[in-house]
Amino acid sequence: MSRELIVYPDKRLRQKSARVVKFDDGLGALLEDMNLAMIEHNGVGLAAIQIGEPLRAFVVNIANEEGERLPENLMEFINPEIVKAEEEILWNEGCLSIPEFTEEVIRFTKITLKYQDRRGKPFVIEAEGLLAIAFQHEIDHLDGKLFVDRLPLLKRKKFEKEWKKNLKANAKP
Ligand code: CO
Repeated sequence: MSRELIVYPDKRLRQKSARVVKFDDGLGALLEDMNLAMIEHNGVGLAAIQIGEPLRAFVVNIANEEGERLPENLMEFINPEIVKAEEEILWNEGCLSIPEFTEEVIRFTKITLKYQDRRGKPFVIEAEGLLAIAFQHEIDHLDGKLFVDRLPLLKRKKFEKEWKKNLKANAKP
């Protein structure tokens, strides 16, 4: 059993996560928990706050051509910072914390990211497409932001309506 996944509109999703300063076993254990939760819920990425830890860390695992997410393709990002963003694109996004809802959001298709690994070693990575989108989506989580916050007003209202309807439907015995 993995840790509980925090779901919209839980206020914890709104807090700004703090920078990681301790690169110790506790961080390693947190990253394992995040990976387990991501696998259990079949997600592309997961930020620490989604399992209740307000720290600037996220994991990503992009499926291969066969649609499998292999353990060796797991990537961990600590204290990530976007240093370059290029070319806007409309991308259909979803989020483990907002189950069963997807909508198009404006993102950048090319991202250069500065980050640290679980030992605190600094790296820079350039990404395109899904990985670049995942970076922006997960960093939003670290800043207390959700992809639905980026929707134009009418689409945002449509989302709130649908969400309430689903809640009612699920509450029925
Ligand atoms: Co998300």
